[in-house]
Amino acid sequence: MTRYDAPLQLDSILRTAPVIPVLTIQRVEDAVPLAEALVEGGLRVLEITLRTGVAAEAIGRIREAVPRAIAGAGTVLDARDLKNARSAGAAFGVSPGLTTELASAIAEDGLPFLPGVATASEIMQARAYGFRHLKFFPADAMGGRAAIDSFAGPFRDVLFCPTGGICEDTLDEYLKRPNVVCAGGSWMAPDTDVNDGAWNAIAERARRISERCQSPRREAVGSGFGD
Ligand code: 3PG
Repeated sequence: MTRYDAPLQLDSILRTAPVIPVLTIQRVEDAVPLAEALVEGGLRVLEITLRTGVAAEAIGRIREAVPRAIAGAGTVLDARDLKNARSAGAAFGVSPGLTTELASAIAEDGLPFLPGVATASEIMQARAYGFRHLKFFPADAMGGRAAIDSFAGPFRDVLFCPTGGICEDTLDEYLKRPNVVCAGGSWMAPDTDVNDGAWNAIAERARRISERCQSPRREAVGSGFGD
C-alpha cells in the first residue's frame, strides 16, 4: 500500500506552538472569535473536531478570517471524514486511532496527518504506514508520562503529541519529554468560556501557556525520520 509521505510539513506545523487546542465548536459564529483569541494568545495551531455539524464551516471561516491560524480537522475517523476535512480547507488532520482504510486514504490524499495510537502494537502499525508523528491518546488514561518514557526505548524515531486528560498543571511534565513534540487538549477553551463569549479569558490563558512553554524547538529524532 502507498505510504504516508508528508512528515516534514506536519513536523513544522507541530513545532509552531507548544499546545494544540482541541475545539469542538457548537455555534459557527464562535469559530472566528475563538480562533482569534487563541492566536492572539500565541496558540496558532488549532484542531477543530468533526464532531458537530458546523465543524467544516468553522474551519472555512477561520481560514478566511484568521490567516495566522493553522486550522486542522480532528476526529477524522474514516476516508469520508478525510475528504470533508480536505474540502473544508483543513491544513492538517488528526484522528484518535488508525485503520488500514484511513491510512490508505491519507497516503493517497497527502494531507499532513497526525494519527492516534495508544499501544506499542499501534505505534508499530502506524510506523509501518510511514507515520513518525503520532497523537498519544488518551494520554493520561493510557499511562501518561511514564508510558511516553517507556515508548522512547523501542521507538526512537517517533515523536508524540499527547492528548487527553492533560491540564495546565501537568503540561510542563509532558513537554519536557524529548520524544514529545507538542501536546493537545481542550482545557484552554472550556465550554463555559466559549458559551459566555469570554474571549479575553481564553486569550489570556493561551498567552500564559504559550509564554510559559517556550520550550526549545526539538529536532526530529532517529535516522528513520521521514522514511
Ligand atoms: C479529544 O479528542 O477530546 C481530546 O483528546 C481532548 O482531550 P481533553 O478534553 O482531555 O483535553
